[in-house]
Amino acid sequence: MVQQYGLWINGEWKKATETMEVLNKYHQEVFAKVARASKEDVEKAVSSAEQAFHRHALSPYERFEILNQVSELLKERKEEFARVITAEAGKPIKQARGEIDRAVQTLKISAEEAKRIHGEGIPVEASPGAENRMAFTIRVPVGVVGAISPFNFPVNLVCHKIGPALAAGNAVVLKPASTTPVSSLKLAELFHEAGLPAGLLNVVTGSGSTVGQYLMDDERIQLYTFTGSAEVGLKLKQQTGMNKLILELGNNSPVIVDEEADLKKAARTTAIQSFAFAGQVCISVQRLYVHENIFNEFTTEFIEATKELHVGDPYDDRTDVGPMISEKEAMRAEEWIEEAKKEGATVLFGGKRDGALFEPTVLTHVKKDMQVVCQEIFAPVVTFIPYRDLDVCIKEINESNYGLQGGIFTKNIDKAFYAARKIDVGGMMINDGSQFRVDLMPYGGIKNSGWGKEGPKYSIEEMTHEKLIVLNL
Ligand code: SIN
Repeated sequence: MVQQYGLWINGEWKKATETMEVLNKYHQEVFAKVARASKEDVEKAVSSAEQAFHRHALSPYERFEILNQVSELLKERKEEFARVITAEAGKPIKQARGEIDRAVQTLKISAEEAKRIHGEGIPVEASPGAENRMAFTIRVPVGVVGAISPFNFPVNLVCHKIGPALAAGNAVVLKPASTTPVSSLKLAELFHEAGLPAGLLNVVTGSGSTVGQYLMDDERIQLYTFTGSAEVGLKLKQQTGMNKLILELGNNSPVIVDEEADLKKAARTTAIQSFAFAGQVCISVQRLYVHENIFNEFTTEFIEATKELHVGDPYDDRTDVGPMISEKEAMRAEEWIEEAKKEGATVLFGGKRDGALFEPTVLTHVKKDMQVVCQEIFAPVVTFIPYRDLDVCIKEINESNYGLQGGIFTKNIDKAFYAARKIDVGGMMINDGSQFRVDLMPYGGIKNSGWGKEGPKYSIEEMTHEKLIVLNL
């Protein structure tokens, strides 16, 4: 049966005049109908958040209790939420279950961080002329947070926005991705069940170009937290003036496989990290720089590891690579590959598309200005690039406009730390691929990959103001 959802505003469901269909991304059938919010609906949601922010100043302990309770509720309903992710995002069920496990943690960490929000003592008397004064800072919530989330982690990346925002004492208006809104609406019910006062969390659904734009235009929003494309991130930065921002954008993640690496481990790890969730992860391995002395051996190991991946039905427990979010996106990836082939690239493995299902694909003989290399492909496609000299390789890596996470496999500690220091990214993994993330760590990029950090502790810093208080004794 097709489920129907309204907008979640001020602690209750509100009907909208227009609706939109949410497709099951594998079966391509309508599995839910959700509201398409109008400008007035978005204004109501922001008003409700603003009023709730002033009406309900929850203590840090109350925020801890609520977030902890949501974490417990989500744990109890893991299978139900995982199946919603698989339906609306096409994510293989075992990866969807993994996402719920992570979201349970993200909420728990946010709850714990609610108890640790503090300022610091400032020794003002150390300045001449400031005798007999005491000073300290406190951290105060910014007010209304506008959260715009992507399709690829429809529960965990939403929790990375709502969890820290509420832990810090803010109110939230969330706009989930239009392709995957159902899990966010169900999540709002969990917050309600856990006792979150009405209005502190509002969910408005619709497209980015309408609902996202209405949010961007609303001057009552003090901070935007956005995960998505660099193009939209830049627009948000340009249009939101003096507002605070957290931007988690794309990447064309580089990973080096040095001649002194454990090749089997490097091949197994990078094969999984190139193709998990059909490569639709901002830190999917995309550019594999492989030392020329081990290029052939590594390639063989990588292809062997890739052959072991199960491609197909995301509801099958064995599946590692399911459909992409849409056939249109899969066709876009196919076009980039065709363009690369015309310019000399070779398909070493895969390359075929069936609707939205794209085979894990390995390309070599690529050039650095091909889209498959210099843009974020966001598809199960990895490029192999041989190198001889580590410095030349690092220079080439750093020519990218992106800089989210990278990795190096080597048993040589000097090379590992050298690369870690020299590569321009927000996070470097040693003896792991770029796709390592646990939810308490700081996560965010430089250059076109973003602005500010996620991870509850770090988001809370962004989502609060530091206020100075000085006592004249
Ligand atoms: C992302 O795609 O930016 C999120 C990756 C993750 O949380 O693992």
